[in-house]
Amino acid sequence: MKLTELKNNFHKELEGAQDNKALEFLRVKYLGRKGVVADLLNELKNMSAEERREAGNKINSFKKEIEEAFEIKRAEIEVLGEGGQAKDWFDVTVPGVKHPKGHFHPRTIVMRQAESIFQSMGFSVADGPELETDWYNFEALNIPKEHPARDMQDTFYVANPAGGSDLVMRTQTSPVQVRFMEKNNPPLRIIAPGKVFRREATDASHDYQFYQVEGLMVDRHISVANFKAIIAEFFKRFYGDKVDVRLRPSYFPFTEPSFEIDISCVICNQKGCSVCQQRGWTEAGGAGMVNQIVFENAGYSRNEWQGFAFGFGFERLVMMKYKIDDIRLLNSGDMRFLKQF
Ligand code: FA5
Repeated sequence: MKLTELKNNFHKELEGAQDNKALEFLRVKYLGRKGVVADLLNELKNMSAEERREAGNKINSFKKEIEEAFEIKRAEIEVLGEGGQAKDWFDVTVPGVKHPKGHFHPRTIVMRQAESIFQSMGFSVADGPELETDWYNFEALNIPKEHPARDMQDTFYVANPAGGSDLVMRTQTSPVQVRFMEKNNPPLRIIAPGKVFRREATDASHDYQFYQVEGLMVDRHISVANFKAIIAEFFKRFYGDKVDVRLRPSYFPFTEPSFEIDISCVICNQKGCSVCQQRGWTEAGGAGMVNQIVFENAGYSRNEWQGFAFGFGFERLVMMKYKIDDIRLLNSGDMRFLKQF
């Protein structure tokens, strides 16, 4: 068979090949050990030296042409998909390809529930920066430098690109209290959910990055009774009757008096586990009546207003809701975990 004829045949056959299987078949047919090109080369031995040189060159350039055409076809199949070009029809009865659908992170799902409960009680949602100044994260909250309370929250410091003193990755959402009060007058009710950061070792109930939900209610006659009523209502709607809540006396420089809010551990049914550190209760957050010094730092006059503030560790609430026994799962990105929600 003449070389031109072989070439024509090859290109016709290649055009018809629409998938990798057909392509491989053609490759073996033309370039394989017993393929067309091998046959042609085999014939060289019957030729004179001069004929051999000329025919050899032609065969080599044919071989090159085949190889290049294969490369192009291969790329075409990859882009168009197998059978891409040849299909000038489609079968409308073939079931469609289902793309896997993503969903919200469990923390986001629960955060929206929490926000909507507070919103239904008249709270609006505020926020503030994650990279804070020392003033808002500490000083304005009555935590001066060298105050032992600074040791309660180990801090990531970040060099200030504008020069001056270091910035801090906020260790709590409480700075939003001051930021909000600077711009708004009472009466007010807000929650401020957001990320906080602490330089501490992790375990089943501690991470170095977690969420808090700050709450603040300010008016002329706010008391601890208002606070208790609001959080009792919140937890009842958030958990149903499954969880008990208790307040313990505590200390925060920005509230006076201060409390710790505990919720009963549903993971172990109060028998003791690694999440509640064998106590049967887990520390959900801190709270208290806003210290008048904080009002003053936010620009209000002293003794004119009263308010309560609280800050929940949000992951703890999520863990109790879904019985998650290790906080680190929430930031792990592990699909086996995330797919369960
Ligand atoms: C505070 O951060 C205060 N700002 C809370 C507050 C707000 C008090 C308003 C008074 C008024 P504390 O450091 O205790 O407090 O943290 C609050 C909650 O965050 C804890 O009860 C706990 O639930 C959660 N938490 C603290 N550290 C971690 C951590 N490393 N990982 C996960 N959650 C944590």
